[in-house]
Amino acid sequence: MNGDWDSTDQEQSENLSLLACTRVQGDVMKTVIFHEHTISYSPSNRYIKMFLKKYIEKIETLGSVELDEELLELYVSLASTTGENMFIEGMCYKTYLLDKEQYTRVVLREEQMMISQGTTGLQTWDAGVRLADFFAEHPDIIRGQKVVELGSGCGLVGLTCAAMGASHVLATDVNSVVLKQLESNHPEYKDKVRVAELDWENIEECEKLSKDADVVIGADIAYDPTIVPVLVGALKAIVVSSQQVAYITATIRSPETFDLFLKMIDETEVLGKSVMTLTETNTTALCMPNPSADIRLVLITRK
Ligand SMILES: C[S@@+](CC[C@H](N)C(=O)[O-])C[C@H]1O[C@@H](n2cnc3c(N)ncnc32)[C@H](O)[C@@H]1O
Repeated sequence: MNGDWDSTDQEQSENLSLLACTRVQGDVMKTVIFHEHTISYSPSNRYIKMFLKKYIEKIETLGSVELDEELLELYVSLASTTGENMFIEGMCYKTYLLDKEQYTRVVLREEQMMISQGTTGLQTWDAGVRLADFFAEHPDIIRGQKVVELGSGCGLVGLTCAAMGASHVLATDVNSVVLKQLESNHPEYKDKVRVAELDWENIEECEKLSKDADVVIGADIAYDPTIVPVLVGALKAIVVSSQQVAYITATIRSPETFDLFLKMIDETEVLGKSVMTLTETNTTALCMPNPSADIRLVLITRK
């Protein structure tokens, strides 16, 4: 939804006066807020409020245009219940639109808090959104490939690979609550996606699943210096042939942790790496990756 309001596209601005007329405002309510999909997979109240706020702001730029009564009432009631509080607990749905023409999408049930029930895996992180966007934009990389995801969390990246043509995806995580949520988040791609418990410390298991991995993926999994050595150990055990490639994204919160990750890859002496910055591309995902997040993509191969 944000993509539409944020666009500075000429066509959009020409359509703005049309979008502002009260009859069309009513239609927007019906086709967006009360759409079957929005009702079945309800986004958070905070998200709906943000959407309405942006819409109202756009309408107001036109001057004295009357606001649809139902729209205004809904906005006021959401504003009074959600307020400015960014720390609201509870599950909501997020719909990630990967391809606007085919309407390819991934719908995930996620926690609104970044850390909940002692894990970071119940919400999709910016580095996950960017990596999913990257595969949506470059589907050739994963088309027909067997993909193994490390630290899947809610599963956005793995499910995106399934949606964009991977032949099989093994989505893994260590946390039992995360695994349960991951299991319930992939009904649309059940035939292609399997969920499995994997702790990177379990080198034997990592070695076993190497045969299922043409491509290894992982987003925001090198976030803590204490887990970097086991993560690199897992990558070394899985990426064993020059035909395999790992795509790992990291949000640079601590440059030291990221540098440690790169240094430990070099220290394996068998893995090679290249790093690129994933800037905000013409994002296709129907969500809001933080535009200021500094996200790097590390490509890892066997030397
Ligand atoms: C910051 S979350 C990222 C989740 C997801 N990839 C995303 O981008 O939204 C990190 C994930 O790594 C998982 N993780 C942490 N340590 C792990 C380990 N030793 N083995 C496997 N998974 C681990 C966590 O359970 C969590 O789901």
